[in-house]
Amino acid sequence: MKQKPCYILGIESSCDDTAAAVLNHNKVLSNCVTNQEIHNQYGGVVPELASRAHQINIIPVVDRALAEANISKKDLNAIAYTKGPGLLGSLLVGNSFSKSMSMGLNIPLIEVNHMQAHVLAHFIENKSKKPPKFPFIGVNISGGHTQILIVNNYFEMKLIGVSLDDAIGEAFDKCGKKMGLDYPSGPLIDKLSKKGNPKRFKFPIPKVDGLNLSYSGCKTSFMNFIDKELNTNPKFIIDNLNDLCSSIQSTLIGIITQKIEAAVEETNIKTVAIGGGVSANSEIRKFLIQKERNNGWKVHIPLIEYSTDNAAMIGIVGYLKWRYKDFTDYYSVSNSRMSI
Ligand code: KG4
Ligand code: ZN
Repeated sequence: MKQKPCYILGIESSCDDTAAAVLNHNKVLSNCVTNQEIHNQYGGVVPELASRAHQINIIPVVDRALAEANISKKDLNAIAYTKGPGLLGSLLVGNSFSKSMSMGLNIPLIEVNHMQAHVLAHFIENKSKKPPKFPFIGVNISGGHTQILIVNNYFEMKLIGVSLDDAIGEAFDKCGKKMGLDYPSGPLIDKLSKKGNPKRFKFPIPKVDGLNLSYSGCKTSFMNFIDKELNTNPKFIIDNLNDLCSSIQSTLIGIITQKIEAAVEETNIKTVAIGGGVSANSEIRKFLIQKERNNGWKVHIPLIEYSTDNAAMIGIVGYLKWRYKDFTDYYSVSNSRMSI
């Protein structure tokens, strides 16, 4: 028997990407993002400008998502939106828009935790890969978060390791800025690293107890090193760019891979699923693929379009909650510091 359609509109506006997606059950029909170029000239996200850009972008991106999915807004069964964590002004735009649309169409509204969504992106239909089996180790690595979790079921996730200071993506971006690279620098550092020597320069790996991590010491040591070398050779960065990228990437990725290995050993859970923008990094992908080959791990790496911030991941959580009728009312408020 043919399944009745269940169309969920996902809305994501937690940082600087305005995104909308339409899912039918767990299948993505459209996944649209409007990036905010305006931040590039500032070397990081400017919250006030992000909120203003969301206000401009949100209606066109939703229209585009509906058109690409080839459905009308009247076909929607529910709207899922990012409640938090994120920049408050940015979150408020998604919240107000979603409430208004849900009220106008008289359909349920669903709250989504952005960090849970990065983990649950693995449950989007993928013809070539089955979703991870519970329990698994979830690893969220992005510009705002570095988290290691035990995921017991869709909505029960336990934080077992977290960065005590900067997030890994933030460290990539700040080191990139120091080298004069555009924001966000992670993808460019990754690209230039391929032509460099990862062992040329050494930066300290912090000693942090348990499964927690730290990135600020390594970032500061990188910056101080650059300043020192520039004193004697003003062309130091240009002369050594590929090796600098390769060495800092290897250190930043080494910090998280060490802790992922420790998490697997400690919990004896060998299924690892990564998410967040930094999961696009080629070195962490290589590390996980080797672990699958040589150590019997089962690894789950999202497609690039579901690893950086996107609304399809908000839509899948919406669908999973819709099945349990886990709806919210119009008192739903944004929460910039929402925990997992
Ligand atoms: O998840 P995301 O799109 O947004 C946040 O919620 O932060 O992650 C963005 C972060 C940025 O810091 C960016 O530099 C980093 O992901 N990133 C990468 C790569 N692609 C994106 N970092 C390292 N290597 C990459 N290939
Ligand atoms: Zn994110």
